[in-house]
Amino acid sequence: DGELCLSRSLVNNSDKITRKAGSTIFQHSVQGWKINSSLVLEIRKNILRFLDAERDVSVVKSSFKPGDVIHYVLDRRRTLNISHDLHSLLPEVSPMKNRRFKTCAVVGNSGILLDSGCGKEIDSHNFVIRCNLAPVVEFAADVGTKSDFITMNPSVVQRAFGGFRNESDREKFVHRLSMLNDSVLWIPAFMVKGGEKHVEWVNALILKNKLKVRTAYPSLRLIHAVRGYWLTNKVPIKRPSTGLLMYTLATRFCDEIHLYGFWPFPKDLNGKAVKYHYYDDLKYRYFSNASPHRMPLEFKTLNVLHNRGALKLTTGKCM
Ligand code: CTP
Repeated sequence: DGELCLSRSLVNNSDKITRKAGSTIFQHSVQGWKINSSLVLEIRKNILRFLDAERDVSVVKSSFKPGDVIHYVLDRRRTLNISHDLHSLLPEVSPMKNRRFKTCAVVGNSGILLDSGCGKEIDSHNFVIRCNLAPVVEFAADVGTKSDFITMNPSVVQRAFGGFRNESDREKFVHRLSMLNDSVLWIPAFMVKGGEKHVEWVNALILKNKLKVRTAYPSLRLIHAVRGYWLTNKVPIKRPSTGLLMYTLATRFCDEIHLYGFWPFPKDLNGKAVKYHYYDDLKYRYFSNASPHRMPLEFKTLNVLHNRGALKLTTGKCM
């Protein structure tokens, strides 16, 4: 059984672990890496038992009508009203319907990307997924610029665009979205209360400026289904990170998935400091239980999948 096979290997894996500079670091080699197409198909099939990314990647217009009240996915006691703006931005059909790609890049936001020279390689993939509206232009040599699908947690408005307090913040945001053309902008709007004002402002700006970007809002069941899949494979993740969510979704559409910018550790293999984000000074407590994520565990899992040829993880320089 494929599922059992995966879980056994995730538990008793034989990857090399070195302890360096106080952190546990997982080694993997990109030299000689080869795709294991039958494992890729098996993983896709197993994930499909929990979710269908084509459908769960976004709710669609017919799911709701304006004025409907929904419960937040991770805080069921609180509710959100589906506004007219939000409803008008829901896609008619899944933005990923019938889309299939030979190779995809999922780009995480770790500072490990700095000085990697991976920009060209990332942009050479057929479909590029990025997280949290991370800036690209100033970092093009290391991260590339192509963005076919980009996520945006509502908190990004506060963190990177000054909470839209003044006109220049709003202009900067509209400019960033206009660069995306008709790529998919994926906004997890139904997770927890707190970001609804920001989502409304974002929606209003998209409508007012007639931006071409294709908005998508993950289904109410997505996060539970993704967690269920990983739990069944003995990877107990409280709340999957955006990066892991994107890999899980991408298995539906991509034959070969290449991950960049995944390195949730404060130091690299040579003991050199690594920024949490390649583009800002956000600090992160990697091993704290207070964080909703378990990125080091996620990384360990992705590393096992790399070693088995299910995906390719690049954490060094690109040739
Ligand atoms: N990531 C990583 N190592 C880092 C930073 C990020 O592996 N040092 C990966 C994680 O999978 C993360 C993704 O890159 O989800 C995008 O990074 P970020 O925008 O920082 O995500 P967060 O805001 O930290 O987490 P989330 O949006 O998932 O809540």
